[in-house]
Amino acid sequence: MKVYYDEDTNFDAVKDKTIAVIGYGSQGRAQSLNMKDSGLNVIVGLRPNGASWEKAKADGHTVMSIEEAAEKADIIHILIPDEVQAEVYEKQIKPYLKEGKTLGFSHGYNIHYGYIVPPKGVNVIMVAPKSPGAMVRKTYEEGFGVPGLVCVEKDETGDALDIALGMAKAEGLTRAGVIKTTFREETETDLFGEQAVLCGGVTELIKAGFDTLVEAGYSPEMAYFETCNELKLIVDLIYQKGLAGMWHDVSNTAEYGGLSRSERIINQESRKAMREILKEAEQNDLLLALKGSSEELKEKIMSNMSTRARAAFEEELGFIGAVKVKDVEAAQRKIVDVVQRLVDTGKIQLADNDEMID
Ligand SMILES: NC(=O)c1ccc[n+]([C@@H]2O[C@H](COP(=O)([O-])OP(=O)(O)OC[C@H]3O[C@@H](n4cnc5c(N)ncnc54)[C@H](OP(=O)(O)O)[C@@H]3O)[C@@H](O)[C@H]2O)c1
Repeated sequence: MKVYYDEDTNFDAVKDKTIAVIGYGSQGRAQSLNMKDSGLNVIVGLRPNGASWEKAKADGHTVMSIEEAAEKADIIHILIPDEVQAEVYEKQIKPYLKEGKTLGFSHGYNIHYGYIVPPKGVNVIMVAPKSPGAMVRKTYEEGFGVPGLVCVEKDETGDALDIALGMAKAEGLTRAGVIKTTFREETETDLFGEQAVLCGGVTELIKAGFDTLVEAGYSPEMAYFETCNELKLIVDLIYQKGLAGMWHDVSNTAEYGGLSRSERIINQESRKAMREILKEAEQNDLLLALKGSSEELKEKIMSNMSTRARAAFEEELGFIGAVKVKDVEAAQRKIVDVVQRLVDTGKIQLADNDEMID
């Protein structure tokens, strides 16, 4: 595995280019400010009536519409939510792509699953800090940075990796170390990690522990301390010293009790569920999986979503619902579209005698 640090990279491939950061949320703000402060030529593309327009201007950026930024830029770095990227790309970015330009992402979802298929001649790269945006900015201002990933899906100009590394350096990521990986590996491990461990797994573990204590008559305050608040302290120890260091630092009762009971909680059944979740990420995508899931699960997911994410998701589910009952031909067309995108991007191959449409 190749890890790049500051001394392995330079700004040669990016210093004369205009970089349009599309979106000014968690990642957009942090990445654009870091690159600007490192001396790169950054512009910000946003919705003129959107909430982040004034914020980006107040931070000293040159702000313009997404279309104008896409037209002006050599590198278009898409940092809006994953679920809206394909539509924004299709309508507001694709018309301005020309040979030699570069499309950048911080997560591989839309490229890997074929929702965005850039034209020939356009580089496709990823520069992905392994951290929320606020930390990307804070650590940069402190003179360091967070670790990150770079990937090249398409190298049409011969220097796509240098472009990605130049951006990573400007964001402070090479100060901590940047791993070169692929869109596939980043997307599938990222989905698996957040579903099985970081977001899905941990929240259920906390809730199950909390409920067990409260149902048995213990006070919710004590249950909260034991199952949630102290988790932070344990994760900090693991982060600093590794699993072995954590076991060494906790009390002997915690060490003996934890080691002797842990496999009653995370056991072969949990590992089997994890392998299934990974398979889904490898074969499928979240939206497709959700389409087939129960109303109860959909409700649970929707109730945890932000208003904007819920609206986008409802639209997608509404479309699928309508397709299911009324419009079988539209569903077939959509499936053919997806297969075609996967063929175009080389993700699957059809045998000579395969027919696209029956
Ligand atoms: N958040 C993280 O910690 C993190 C970490 C690593 C990678 N990533 C990746 O980074 C990318 C950006 O994620 P994020 O969390 O930074 O996004 P975010 O904070 O939710 O993005 C908000 C920005 O997107 C704009 N936006 C939203 N919907 C839009 C639409 N339909 N058309 C145009 N602009 C729209 C908003 O503009 P308005 O102000 O106009 O609403 C705002 O500027 C994603 O690919 C994500 O997977 C995120």
